[in-house]
Amino acid sequence: MPSAIVSAPPAFATNISQDTTRVFTPRTHWCGTLTQAQLGQSLTLNGWVQVRRDLGGIVFIEIRDRTGLVQLVSDPQKNPSVHEKFSTLRSEDVITVTGVVSARPAETVNANLGTGTLEMYPDACQILSRSAVLPFGIDDDTDNVDEQLRLTYRYLDLRRPKLFKTLELRHRLAQAMRRHLNDNGFLEIETPVLVKATPEGARDYLVPSRVHPGHVYALPQSPQIFKQLLMLGGMERYYQLARCFRDEDLRSDRQPEFTQIDIEMSFINQDDVLALVEGLVQAMFLEATVSVSLPLKRMSWHDAMNNYGSDKPDMRYDLKFTDLTDLFAASEFQAFRGAVDAGGVVKALKVTGAASYSRKELDDLQHTAKQFGAKGLGYILYSPEEGAKSPILKFLSEAEQAAIVTETGAQPGDAVFFMADKLVKACTVLGRFRELFAKKHNLIDANRHELFWVVDFPMFDVDDDGTLSPNHHPFTSPRAQDVELLDTDPGKALALGYDLIYNGNELGGGSIRIHDKALQQHIFELLKLSPDDIDNKFGFLLRAFQYGVPPHGGLALGFDRMVALLSGAESIRDGIAFPKTNAAICPLTDAPAVPTDLQLAELHMGWKLPAPAKDGSVT
Ligand code: AMO
Ligand code: AMP
Repeated sequence: MPSAIVSAPPAFATNISQDTTRVFTPRTHWCGTLTQAQLGQSLTLNGWVQVRRDLGGIVFIEIRDRTGLVQLVSDPQKNPSVHEKFSTLRSEDVITVTGVVSARPAETVNANLGTGTLEMYPDACQILSRSAVLPFGIDDDTDNVDEQLRLTYRYLDLRRPKLFKTLELRHRLAQAMRRHLNDNGFLEIETPVLVKATPEGARDYLVPSRVHPGHVYALPQSPQIFKQLLMLGGMERYYQLARCFRDEDLRSDRQPEFTQIDIEMSFINQDDVLALVEGLVQAMFLEATVSVSLPLKRMSWHDAMNNYGSDKPDMRYDLKFTDLTDLFAASEFQAFRGAVDAGGVVKALKVTGAASYSRKELDDLQHTAKQFGAKGLGYILYSPEEGAKSPILKFLSEAEQAAIVTETGAQPGDAVFFMADKLVKACTVLGRFRELFAKKHNLIDANRHELFWVVDFPMFDVDDDGTLSPNHHPFTSPRAQDVELLDTDPGKALALGYDLIYNGNELGGGSIRIHDKALQQHIFELLKLSPDDIDNKFGFLLRAFQYGVPPHGGLALGFDRMVALLSGAESIRDGIAFPKTNAAICPLTDAPAVPTDLQLAELHMGWKLPAPAKDGSVT
């Protein structure tokens, strides 16, 4: 079971009468934790005024702390001095009250509130701080308020129960992670933030050096090289909650700075890392009351792409592709046959209930296909009344039409969609449609938790002109049996790389690393790094590789992503206390900011252009 909730720690029970430094009476209890057990007791509560209601002379206040709410009442007859103060209170004023807890009269019981059977007529009230009029209400309906405004007043946004619960979950996940890794002999070690660039495929954030004119540090995209150096340093098992910085296009699942649970181990193989991480994730998910049964399934990268068109397929729904490449190898229909002749594939996707799509819906799909970079999206609708309908039917033989039905299993009411192109292109585009159809037809079962590994990634992505780039990062080891392919057919070489996928999201990724100096050097060469580049960027690593390297490997989990997914948040921003917008701005502090002339001068820097505004305009 999840560990006890930490939202209600013990109240500070100091001897108040002897403490002359206190300017207010500290709480004896937390608002949201009061139960019938406190009836008749005199207690002190601290918190914010959620709301004040003035009902013909009697004033009702809801007082809130992070555990919840409880009702306070003032009546000019019963507690006149408190009533005078209550009459002036406004939402978010900060107060402390002392009084006896009583039962609410039956007709005023609030079944929606944990403390709804209780109330207190305080006999003392101190107003500790007044609040200005709020830009938005402090309740979970505030989800509808413009996010920019919520982020500008993030400290108010954070007062909402939902955000508190998310940050509390974040805390508990971090504690569960530390417990599990500590129990498995891992050491928590910090690595530097002012570093030489570590390549993870994004742009670096740079920090100019004042001491060394013309030189910059990079902020780490990940601690990748340092954690490998820790293995060279004999640490054997390392972890860190590591802050990473990547200047890349932001989306709902990406932030410019984010946190990884970064892990590295020595003298292990791929199965050891996967087993360790499975146990870790099981322990963490339990904090969010999601039980995970082990071992997790594994799917090869090729099967993931070939069947679902993604290297992180959402397996909460089926929608598996049918391969029709052989069927169209000798077809009269040029759009499909041409793709096969060019070494490509024809993939089909059957969607139940799509036969009733309107003309407009079909046109929109064509438009979307073009936006996804495809030539089109072929389709056949199997109307229960009119049979097969499609502009491509006239190009297909009877035998082809019959084979499509048998192979996809299409029934009346269904539609089959086609994508003909090079393998990866056809699959990824149809994979995006797979996601789109799943949403449109409500196929995603929100109660399912599909957590599994994608393994056997290719070593390289190969451009049309044959240029290689690392599919993961350049320190990833090829499979032993694929080392020879590096020189003969590098696009076919598979890596000892693995990604952890949760409900269609990449929760983490890692690999077994190269620990052989010559092989590492060779990979840099295949990536077309010049000897100077290799020396400049990675000379220190290759030098280290001369001195006895343990076989090692690891992985990094996206912590913010995990928090957001496990708390049901829509965006990664909801799992972070002070996130940035999709334009990489912090609306609360207004970062980034224009430096002063003095700061620039100290850094030996000048703008080539006048400093542009954040919207990109130059004044
Ligand atoms: P990778 O680049 O796959 O691997 O990152 C690991 C995990 O970090 C999360 N992640 C992000 N989360 C939020 N915002 C971002 N911009 C962002 N980018 C990545 C993802 C991802 O799975 N050094 C390697 C790990 C290794 O090989 O051990 C690395 O950083 O959940
Ligand atoms: P066309 O003969 O080019 O007019 O195409 C007929 C139908 O096939 C249209 O619905 C196109 O969207 C679709 N189509 C064309 N090329 C492809 C392709 N490569 N893959 C899937 N569908 C295609």
